[in-house]
Amino acid sequence: MENAPATALARTRAERVSAYAAMGEPLRALLTDERDIIAAMANFSALLKEAFGWHWVGFYRVVGAELVLGPFQGPVACVRIGFGKGVCGTAWQEERTLVVPDVERFPGHIACSALTRSEIVVPIRDRDGRVAAVLDIDSILPDDFDAIDAHALEVLCEQLQPLFE
Ligand code: SME
Repeated sequence: MENAPATALARTRAERVSAYAAMGEPLRALLTDERDIIAAMANFSALLKEAFGWHWVGFYRVVGAELVLGPFQGPVACVRIGFGKGVCGTAWQEERTLVVPDVERFPGHIACSALTRSEIVVPIRDRDGRVAAVLDIDSILPDDFDAIDAHALEVLCEQLQPLFE
């Protein structure tokens, strides 16, 4: 399976909706073939990065009282994020998807890359309903995420739920 090259970015809202829809089946196939959560997160982040060309796409896992960097695509990132800290720790604390149109206006935003302008973080629950990880996506474009992205990414992330112990 070969994804679209990074030059074929889904730019318009309509293209983006199609790209999300086209991703459901390959993701299902990946998760059927492989039940290891780390492997699944690695390929999931690759699928998203290849399809949309975002600056950074990756996961932080809940490990004890903090988030710890998991599989990702993009530049080197900070490794540990506390509960309630930054966008990721706040999404974990509030157990809801956060769309941040301008990271400079988010109090406590953790700037892993100076290029990031907007961000979305989606909490992922385990089989008991507890937040087990978050998906974090950073864009170099301001205001790059909206409710369409939030809903589509939440639906895709639900596929990871059965893989958590
Ligand atoms: N900006 C995030 C930190 C993680 S990096 O963006 C990869 C935050 O504020 O939680």
